Amino acid sequence: MDSILVKGNGALSGTIPIAGAKNACLTLMPATLLSDEPLTLTNAPRLSDIATMTQLLQSLGAEVASLQDGLVLALSSHAIDNRTADYDIVRKMRASILVLGPMLSRDGHAVVSLPGGCAIGARPVDLHLKALEAMGADLDLRDGYVHARAPGGRLKGAVVDFPFVSVGATENALLAATLARGTTVLKNAAREPEIVDLAQCLRKMGAQIEGEGTSTITIQGVDRLHGATHPVVTDRIELGTYMLVPAICGGEVECLGGRLDLVGAFAEKLDAAGVSVTQTERGLKVSRRNGRVKAVDVVTEPFPGFPTDLQAQMMALLCTADGTSVLEERIFENRFMHAPELTRMGAKIEVHGGHATVTGVERLKGARVMATDLRASVSLILAGLAAEGETIVSRVYHLDRGYERVEQKLRACGAQIERIKG
Ligand code: UD1
Repeated sequence: MDSILVKGNGALSGTIPIAGAKNACLTLMPATLLSDEPLTLTNAPRLSDIATMTQLLQSLGAEVASLQDGLVLALSSHAIDNRTADYDIVRKMRASILVLGPMLSRDGHAVVSLPGGCAIGARPVDLHLKALEAMGADLDLRDGYVHARAPGGRLKGAVVDFPFVSVGATENALLAATLARGTTVLKNAAREPEIVDLAQCLRKMGAQIEGEGTSTITIQGVDRLHGATHPVVTDRIELGTYMLVPAICGGEVECLGGRLDLVGAFAEKLDAAGVSVTQTERGLKVSRRNGRVKAVDVVTEPFPGFPTDLQAQMMALLCTADGTSVLEERIFENRFMHAPELTRMGAKIEVHGGHATVTGVERLKGARVMATDLRASVSLILAGLAAEGETIVSRVYHLDRGYERVEQKLRACGAQIERIKG
């Protein structure tokens, strides 16, 4: 397993191109299952999660070609010959459950393995299943698989009122509703930019959707969808992660393709901590206003609130802030596994349930640490960039699921970082 070696090296400055969003691309790719015409996605990120979704779609009989060094994905589902998403692929990535809605909606039946547990909490898929049931699906859970059927071969429109906001369940229901008979109304829907991106792509394919980006989405089912070409929206989590580089190290970084509307709540917290964020024509320019950042309290919430996927990285910053910060994690239980690793680097953190209290120290110290999930792994790299001495982050396969070419992007700003093959 590879490791990453980082040496704290003072201020970092330069430009970093931000890729297309992993979480958008993972929900756009299954949209191919809704049509027998080609779907082309541009601005795709080059990540192992995308390779896993490619493998899953191919196992169903879809054609997926990766073009232009992975930036373009050409998908076609004209010859689907298998309607079972196997456990061996699904267990690698929870987003695999997103093939259920579209397969069921187009073909009237689908069998999808239930995703296994996940390092950041229980993460069930009950809301996905309840939404499809409301649309008339007969579901049978057997041997770890969901066996789904639409009576008469087609789902029917329904009012789906989610008891709480779920990104994945909103996406699955939205995908399924496009080909259902009649009107579907999704209430208490997630408002994430990735959902807006999905709705925009589906609309290009001929779907009739209104209200994406608000908590009520209305879908008028159509008989068929056609081909389309769609650029994947900028990855706001990768964006936020690199915005933290000058915040934690000093210097000035311009994140190319960055948009303030994608990271509003996060940028407000950076501002309160003493970090300036300016929209330029090319992206977002970020720098610290004074020396050390100030402590700020953070609560994770569904969009437009502070994203849970930036909580670990923000904690790395607050470990070096002047004062005491409280981070409250409201989306996932057990999402503070980075805290003990940061503590190994000299951070002062106390975790009680869903709260972490962080008392900033002047300087972190390099150490050997272990990545426990995707966002935790990059938070340790950020901490390493600001620490005195050498940090080795092991188990970085998590990192490759969600961050493309991290070493190159950081090195371009002057960081000392390298991958140790192992
Ligand atoms: C998506 C993202 C993930 C991000 C998360 C929150 C993808 C592939 N993943 O995950 O990176 O961290 O949004 O922004 O886009 N829940 C249930 N039942 C369900 C579904 C969810 O109880 O059927 C719970 C979850 O355990 C969690 C909360 O709802 O506590 C929110 O989860 P959700 O928004 O669905 O996250 P994901 O779609 O899994």
